[in-house]
Amino acid sequence: MLILGLNMFHADASAAIILDGKVEFAIAEERLNRHKHFGGFPALAVKACLDAVGAKISDVEHVAVGQDSDANLAKKVQYALANPAKILNFIRLRQRKEAMRDVRSLLAKALDVDVSQLRFQEHHLEHHIAHIASAYYCSPWDKSAGFSYDGSGDFVSTMVARCEGNEIEVLDRVFLPHSLGSLYTMIGEFIGYTNYGDEGKVMGLAPYGRDMFCKEISKIVMQKNGGFQLDLSYFKSLGSNQGMQVLRDGTVRLARHFSDRMEKQFGKPREPHTEIAQRDMDLAHALQHRFEEIFFHLLNALHQRMPADYLAMAGGCALNSVANGKLFERTPFRQTYIQPAAGDEGLAIGAALHTYHSVLKQPRRVELKNAYLGPEFSDSRIQSALRAGGLESHKVDRARLLDSVAEQIAAGKVVGWFQGRMEWGPRALGNRSIVAHPGLPDMKDVLNARIKHREWFRPFAPSIMADHQHEYFEHDHPSPFMLHVYKIRPEKRKALCAVNHVDDTGRLQSVTREENPLYYDLISSFYRKTGIPVILNTSFNENEPIVCTPEEAIDCFQRTRMDVLAIGPHVVVKSHQNGETALTTSVPKAESI
Ligand SMILES: [Fe+2]
Repeated sequence: MLILGLNMFHADASAAIILDGKVEFAIAEERLNRHKHFGGFPALAVKACLDAVGAKISDVEHVAVGQDSDANLAKKVQYALANPAKILNFIRLRQRKEAMRDVRSLLAKALDVDVSQLRFQEHHLEHHIAHIASAYYCSPWDKSAGFSYDGSGDFVSTMVARCEGNEIEVLDRVFLPHSLGSLYTMIGEFIGYTNYGDEGKVMGLAPYGRDMFCKEISKIVMQKNGGFQLDLSYFKSLGSNQGMQVLRDGTVRLARHFSDRMEKQFGKPREPHTEIAQRDMDLAHALQHRFEEIFFHLLNALHQRMPADYLAMAGGCALNSVANGKLFERTPFRQTYIQPAAGDEGLAIGAALHTYHSVLKQPRRVELKNAYLGPEFSDSRIQSALRAGGLESHKVDRARLLDSVAEQIAAGKVVGWFQGRMEWGPRALGNRSIVAHPGLPDMKDVLNARIKHREWFRPFAPSIMADHQHEYFEHDHPSPFMLHVYKIRPEKRKALCAVNHVDDTGRLQSVTREENPLYYDLISSFYRKTGIPVILNTSFNENEPIVCTPEEAIDCFQRTRMDVLAIGPHVVVKSHQNGETALTTSVPKAESI
């Protein structure tokens, strides 16, 4: 049975294809059309899904969408009537959403087929149920608590659920305008981070702040009977889309979230790209602090209603890996399964799996243990891309590839590592990664100056051989999708100085040989040379969506000052001479650092 899942006309549009309950392929549209956080119709992603399983759209029996504009309609109408200025906006949104519900016409047009060829049944699933489904049905458990939180989706910001067998029973919802995601966006905007998806930057800035504004910020969001409530006087009235607008070309825009009261209380908002003041860091710190307090309050209340060791979690706020890393100390939950695509691209998987298990009553099948659900490319495609890029290629065998790349990393070189199937979700997990030595004091600055051009305060992440995690980190709960931040043990901080954040933490990826043998063996090879079972891992891109194809990887390698490209079995070494860049294809020899 073939089910196509979609997230469409919403940020991070995506598609996923499920064959007899197994997720065969999943991809966000941004990786194909190169438009970051694209929020239109995922036409290219749908085509890629069908190609991956060799099917035509006429073979698809069910199409599931992770959005239901009729969900919580009474609440939406009630809100619109209480805010007369927003009624027109509400009616416009309803009209637009009605047009978007015509999935049949949209798919027929995207795939250039006649509507009469489409035989699928159509399903629309409420946004946050799709989030929880994306985590629970991919987890190994038959019973768990379910939790989802983000800015907004179908007029809800937070959902708690009991997950058992094939069913997800919603226990409670927090309705708009109350939203932890919107709180994060509002304060992030105030301190100059105004783009969709900037919340991770604010999280990275938080440890530089002091306990200056914790009291003030705690008054903006209050705990309330296992839920929470915002003081709306700090917010502009945002309407039922909670200030997120998707333009006709798929660009996602954020409206200004903060009201004049923020300015009265905290001074002028910071202009984007200007110097960051201590005030901005202190606000980021207070925000993260209060966010965590409310998050744990919600989880502890959930645990009282659904006592379980296991927690299945998704939603954009579930990407807050700092909060996730503290969860085991602050709540009774003992294990988490956080969907690798916790943000809205994950809705495609959630909606499709919910259709399979809950609607069609099909048995649970397999745990999603890794995130390698995207496309891979043949060696001939890689070779022709190398030729087109003006790079001759020589193949090396697996042992030589691992040894020579590990040698280059040990020598302080920056390596583009392009292997196998692309990752699903926002993190590069060793298949579309830039890798480097984690223990060189200047490596963070080198990466920033030469390739990534990121803000100075953002940390780089470590990938660690899972069997060594307990030696380096103070927590050993696995973090296969780079979604937990743990303290680095004091005696290991020097060895990991390039991935050790200012608060002595790291957002680690635990790597097992079972889930990614090539990447694990690369780290293992580096370990044999240096005694460090860790490499620095950052996404393979430069201010763009993560590279998907060999051509994009080669283009990124050529336009940045990366030293080495390991693409499939091919190694290309760039030597920097007199400001000129020379490219060779010789297998690298170690150089002293
Ligand atoms: Fe969401």
